[in-house]
Amino acid sequence: MSVSLIPAVYSLDDFEQRAAACIEPGYWAYLQGGAADEATLRRNREAFAEIRLQGRVLADLGGASTRCELLGQTLSMPLLLAPVAAQRLVHADGERAVAEAAAAMGVGMALSTSSSLSLEEVAGVARSPWFQLYIQPDRDFTLQLVRRAEAAGYRALVLTVDAPVNGVRNREQRAGFQLPEAVNLRGMRVRPAKAAGILDSPLFDGRLGSAPTWRDLDWLLGNTRLPVLLKGVSAAADAERAVQAGVAGLIVSNHGGRVLDSLPASIELLPRIADQVGGRVPLLLDGGIRRGTDMLKALALGAQAVLIGRPYVHALALGGAVGVVQLLNILRGEFEAAMALTGCATLADIDRGVLWQR
Ligand code: FNR
Ligand code: LAC
Repeated sequence: MSVSLIPAVYSLDDFEQRAAACIEPGYWAYLQGGAADEATLRRNREAFAEIRLQGRVLADLGGASTRCELLGQTLSMPLLLAPVAAQRLVHADGERAVAEAAAAMGVGMALSTSSSLSLEEVAGVARSPWFQLYIQPDRDFTLQLVRRAEAAGYRALVLTVDAPVNGVRNREQRAGFQLPEAVNLRGMRVRPAKAAGILDSPLFDGRLGSAPTWRDLDWLLGNTRLPVLLKGVSAAADAERAVQAGVAGLIVSNHGGRVLDSLPASIELLPRIADQVGGRVPLLLDGGIRRGTDMLKALALGAQAVLIGRPYVHALALGGAVGVVQLLNILRGEFEAAMALTGCATLADIDRGVLWQR
């Protein structure tokens, strides 16, 4: 077993540094990059770094646990693996390895619409997986995807709504990267639109004409028995509307800084949305989570759980399922330490009191 462990990686950033050498440069640009000047991408991490914690001593930590209940599922810690497209571009086992690792570690996962394996192939090895849906221009085809996800045993749908067009991905453009058609989900006919180039027809005459609207959310909610979470919410007013429409949860996210540059960090967006939602549905958050302390900060500001995107792809590239397990173990150890040192024995103990106030 130890031979397949990745040596000398102690933090998520270590995985990232090591992965740079073994991921093909085009995909690396796609994976690491954000939109335009990447201000939001950077901000996701800066904003976590700016939040300080209040240490506590001599707390009774007997029976302490990171266990989490989310939409009827029990997770070993409040963590899920975010949907990330085309994982077979970094490892032959792709999304299957990630699903295996998530199941082994008792964390959640959401399979991307743009997965490089079919949703049925991944469902077989996953434990209570979620399916991330992009509403396709052809709504019948979208419904077929939903039916397949239901039949395969997916437990929730994550409807991503913050990327009706791709961001202005200068890093990818410079690297000349395009997602190869062949890696898309079997049965998929379309993929997220590319930003228009100078000579392409304008977005408003093209794909945006069939972009999803609030009516499509109602349509989806009326056409599936699965709980639907809305991913990519950044405005409190949108959060309110989604809750009233009947979503089962919200994922506060700026898509890892990949779509609209100049959005605030997701952790900066969270408090206002948490105030608005007031506990009516669970709130999740992603974007820049790299430490157990980041997880603690997100929970303190109102998230029930968090997701990571890029880091587990680094681990997948380096060591397949074992690599992802190794990374998740590191994060769990860090999260436990963060809870212990702020005096929290359970997730219910985590509130704004763990944040240092000037
Ligand atoms: C993504 N993300 C994403 N989201 C989604 O809903 N569907 C998708 O297919 C993808 N694909 C995708 C590809 C790559 C390469 C990245 C990096 C991200 C966004 C993802 O789910 C998540 O919101 C961010 O990755 C979270 O930020 P961190 O953890 O990467 O900082
Ligand atoms: C991305 C799309 C696939 O972020 O969501 O690249």
